[in-house]
Amino acid sequence: MQIRNATIDDLDEIVLMEELFKAPFSKEQVRYEIKENPCSVILIAYSKETNEIYGFIDFWITFDSATICQLAVKEEFQHKGVASFLLEESFKILKLNKVDFYTLEVRESNEKAINLYKKHGFEYVTTKPQYYSNGENAIYMMKGMNWMDKDIIILGIESSCDETSCAISKNGELLSNIVSTQIEMHRKYGGVMPEIASRLHLENILFVIDEALKKANVKLSDLTAIAVTRGPGLIGALHVGLQAAKTLSLVLGIPLIPVHHLCGHIYANEYVNSLKFPLLAVVVSGGNTELVYMKKHLDFEIIGETKDDAIGESFDKVARVLGLPYPGGIPIDKLAKEGEHTYKLPLPMHDGSLNFSYSGLKTAVINVVHNSEEKGEKIRVNDMCRSFEDVAIGEIIDRVKKATLRYDFKQVVLAGGVSANSYLREEVVKLFKDTDIEVIIPPLWCTTDNAAMIAKVGDYLYKEKVFANLNIGVDPSWKIEDYRKF
Ligand code: KG4
Repeated sequence: MQIRNATIDDLDEIVLMEELFKAPFSKEQVRYEIKENPCSVILIAYSKETNEIYGFIDFWITFDSATICQLAVKEEFQHKGVASFLLEESFKILKLNKVDFYTLEVRESNEKAINLYKKHGFEYVTTKPQYYSNGENAIYMMKGMNWMDKDIIILGIESSCDETSCAISKNGELLSNIVSTQIEMHRKYGGVMPEIASRLHLENILFVIDEALKKANVKLSDLTAIAVTRGPGLIGALHVGLQAAKTLSLVLGIPLIPVHHLCGHIYANEYVNSLKFPLLAVVVSGGNTELVYMKKHLDFEIIGETKDDAIGESFDKVARVLGLPYPGGIPIDKLAKEGEHTYKLPLPMHDGSLNFSYSGLKTAVINVVHNSEEKGEKIRVNDMCRSFEDVAIGEIIDRVKKATLRYDFKQVVLAGGVSANSYLREEVVKLFKDTDIEVIIPPLWCTTDNAAMIAKVGDYLYKEKVFANLNIGVDPSWKIEDYRKF
């Protein structure tokens, strides 16, 4: 048995063999594959003596990876090792052209083919629902020459709120992290305008991707996988990042890894210090306030969460009513340093649980401000910032203290935009000063939204083969505990 490239003279025989498939290529399609498609390579197994054709295999090649599109053996030559011959010989030929990574889709019902591919080194990756026109699922498989041992180069994309970002990591090390912030554009509205956010993401996404690749000195063809924030966040904003990620994944034929935004915030700390388990993550941001307990990597249990507003949201709303710029956390943090805790604000919900409530606190501040205005009194902004911050951050410290009594942990990790707050940082460090519990304080660059953190989680998820089909959508209220469900 020999192998050779198909020529246009093989057209009729290949079309005949196509009939073995449930959805055969037409004669025109096969002609296109042989003559025109620059990505297509068709190899024929034949007899050297008689020239008779036994079967063929059709690959589509992108850079160093190939997708098997068709593999057929004439009925009379089946069970004679033709398929195995075609696979092994093509691997040898394609390797000479530096192709060493293969993917394929096969019908879920075609057990014979699935077993054949497994025998030749393919591994199951995921099931693609209703992939075929008759509604049948596809099994997606991959084979690489030690594909898990190769450098893992992840391109991460983040677009969940008002930062468009792309980052590249290589084996977990950050090569580039480009962030384009929209804060100036939203400032005049005192908060993020979702529609404007989506439009700006759309304008910026290609630039940040291009810049991240250039800065990392990485080519698209070097990438191993695409990681992208799938939620939580603003629906339109998330869509832009996900569509860009899906497109790259499709064109490059590499896996798509959906990442939970808050996993990202927690894992951003890994660029500073390795996570040690069990740990308590204090996730405080514009959209979330959660205590997350992690027994090991990628294991998240929410042990406390806000029942209404997020802490960052309350900083922003309080700042707005005090006439301070967006995002409110930054001026409040600064002005509180110059103020006294002189305003009496109610302590939010205290039911003994580890949960939070911030809407009452925000309303209390608004009421004080309005009452003062009515009386013609001037609000002492610095004092109000101090009073509000003491209560808002005091709540976090109170729940962290309670969690210490109920859970065992070796590390406390701050995460999210509000973890930039200087008073929170001081108080957490103070709380664990004379204990064995280590505190990780993230550097300021990783408290704001960025794609470096998404690439970091992507690196972990890649090793666990948490890959998605291209038909996934975003989830604006995705729970961290469901980070593998999409
Ligand atoms: O993590 P992030 O960018 O938003 C979400 O992903 O949800 O966090 C933004 C939030 C804003 O509410 C902002 O006011 C707050 O983080 N923030 C701060 C500080 N810096 C930013 N809050 C308190 N103190 C700060 N220094």
